[in-house]
Amino acid sequence: MTETNTTPDPVLVEFDNGIAFVTLNRPEKRNAMNPKLNMRMLEVLDELEADDRCGVLVLRGAGQSWSAGMDLKEYFRENDGKGRAAVLKSRRQSGGWWNRLMYFEKPTIAMVNGWCFGGAFTPLVSCDLAIAADEATFGLSEINWGILPGGNVTRAVAEVMNHRDSLYYIMTGETFGGQKAREMGLVNESVPLVDLETRVRALCASLLEKNPTVLKAAKDTFKRVRNMPWEQADDYIYAKLEQMLFLDKSNGRAEGLKQFLDDKTYRPGLGAYKR
Ligand code: ACO
Repeated sequence: MTETNTTPDPVLVEFDNGIAFVTLNRPEKRNAMNPKLNMRMLEVLDELEADDRCGVLVLRGAGQSWSAGMDLKEYFRENDGKGRAAVLKSRRQSGGWWNRLMYFEKPTIAMVNGWCFGGAFTPLVSCDLAIAADEATFGLSEINWGILPGGNVTRAVAEVMNHRDSLYYIMTGETFGGQKAREMGLVNESVPLVDLETRVRALCASLLEKNPTVLKAAKDTFKRVRNMPWEQADDYIYAKLEQMLFLDKSNGRAEGLKQFLDDKTYRPGLGAYKR
């Protein structure tokens, strides 16, 4: 059925004390990502990057799902038979926001509240950090319906999970819960669902204390240098450090040193300087 203008917004954005909660909002379809949702996410990321109310972006799902992956009806069934050009177009369009998310200007946290399947692994891994509910259910279900994990899911899995675990779940399509996801490195932590939002908010509070210009550089640097040879990595890291002296108008580095060495008001080993 064609969706009309009366369809609810597929992405909701709410602000709360520096946190932008971005909610994938197709609960009746288990937040499966359809073209409308994916296009809206690109716009939302553009909007939030320029919005001072967003210090940290939290990506969550409406209802009992985080996301059931790609919309199999709209991306697969309805493209079958339309020819190669249509397939290529939909492929280009589908995951555009996942790359944007990977290097988003602000810290990003995936708050995995429920079902998380297939294509949802790419935005999951694109988020800087991920906290799951113990009750969440993950699965590389592609094999169960006859394809391999595309949309860079295979690459995303290889980024954070080890060889044996990756192949096990790619090849069996078995599901696993939040604690197993944590054990395998797919998420940072897993907590009971009732505690999920509280834990995510505490993590946001910690990130919001930090110098935002440096946070952006720190995460990008990690993501980029891990695939570089050592010498290039060393040079890139120093280039970033020097870039910070220019970009950080708050002069945080000097302030951090002053508050420790002169004012003696904090200890860098134990917490952040006061901004
Ligand atoms: N694509 C399109 N529609 C979907 C998807 C999806 N990925 N997931 C759920 N839906 C739809 C169902 O077709 C159903 O629609 P309908 O009400 O019009 O019949 C509705 O969402 C509810 O789905 P149910 O299966 O009834 O919900 P239930 O809570 O029983 O099960 C579950 C949830 C386990 C997530 C199940 O829907 C499911 O297995 N979904 C597919 C998961 C998957 O394999 N995703 C694709 C991964 S591969 C990739 O992303 C390329």
